[in-house]
Amino acid sequence: MTNVNRRNWLKSSLTMTAGLMTMGYAGASTKFEEGSHIESILPKKDRYARLTSNENPFGPSASAKKALKAAIDDSFLYPREYRQTLMSLIAKEEGVTEDHILLGAGSSELLHAAARVYGGANGKVLSADPTYTSLVRSAEMMGSEWVKIPLDKQFDHDLSTMEYKVKPDISLVYLVNPNNPTGKIMTGDEIISFCDTVSAKVPVFVDEAYWDYMENPKGSTTTACIKKGANVIVARTFSKVHAFAGLRVGYCIAQPEVIKKLAKEGPRNTLSGPSMSAATASLVDYEFIKYSVKMNNEGKKFVYDVLEKTGHDYFPSHTNFILFPIAMESEDFKKKMLAKGVGIKSMNVAGQDYCRVSMGKMEDLEMFADAFKQVISTKINQS
Ligand SMILES: Cc1ncc(COP(=O)(O)O)c(C=O)c1O
Repeated sequence: MTNVNRRNWLKSSLTMTAGLMTMGYAGASTKFEEGSHIESILPKKDRYARLTSNENPFGPSASAKKALKAAIDDSFLYPREYRQTLMSLIAKEEGVTEDHILLGAGSSELLHAAARVYGGANGKVLSADPTYTSLVRSAEMMGSEWVKIPLDKQFDHDLSTMEYKVKPDISLVYLVNPNNPTGKIMTGDEIISFCDTVSAKVPVFVDEAYWDYMENPKGSTTTACIKKGANVIVARTFSKVHAFAGLRVGYCIAQPEVIKKLAKEGPRNTLSGPSMSAATASLVDYEFIKYSVKMNNEGKKFVYDVLEKTGHDYFPSHTNFILFPIAMESEDFKKKMLAKGVGIKSMNVAGQDYCRVSMGKMEDLEMFADAFKQVISTKINQS
């Protein structure tokens, strides 16, 4: 490559990297096959540890990739059969009938549908704060009020205050279990009892995006309430344990009349045949799920160790990310980590700064550890 060409290449590749990173797209330490078309459209920067978005860095299972490829030849067909197969498998796995299920292109689409149904000008959505804000922000954009109930001092849901605040004008209660960004859980008993009581008054939406990472997923899910006839909506995603963040598959479970309302306002056949084919294979690939959870636990153990050795507290996590307090202004910390090639999320909650780091491959977590030690030592040297 000549110097001019190299300069132009560098310039366009940096512009593209910056653009893709803004879109949250720069690949972790991923390498692509030499000469492939994909290599020319994805960022060249291969030393970026993307620990921002709670993805599964190990990628979809071999069974999912095989099913995905096998379905590509059918891409000219509307994917009715793939939809039907996935729907009946989810129904079987969840122990409900198919009219209790709605598929979405990721669970985001279903959160948005719920915001449309229960949000709007007179809507009032009650949730903990901080929590995942996609649904509440969508509802706010449609004119709803967001009634925030702060997490308690241990960063747990304050369920008794939430229950007390449920008045007839609340249009939806939104719970995230395990919660994002804390990684903490409400136990099966706590959340099921809350949902049984509160859903008699207003609908309760439980976002179980990180459900598969819990120690006892089956004993913690609020689908138990739905089976008893309660007005509870449970959302699940394939983006986490199944590593489908880019394939976009999610579903929700609710009473059939609620599913009809959500379907009217929300997704209509938005999923592709190949992604539904892959989801069908992945949903029952129990070995892969076990592997994903195991790799995630190893990553968490590594990060806990780094935090303990550097004298940091953290919230033991039931998800694929860890939240911990930092003694540095959150935006400044994020920028300094990014300058060292490590993407994390940072936030300030009630005057305290925090870092949320997603699990990555071990090489990404090692990059995190090195960058973290350097960034905190600059702080120590400055003070
Ligand atoms: C709690 C929670 N719900 C939903 C989502 C959206 O996931 P997706 O649209 O990929 O299913 C996320 C993404 O990080 C999340 O953390």
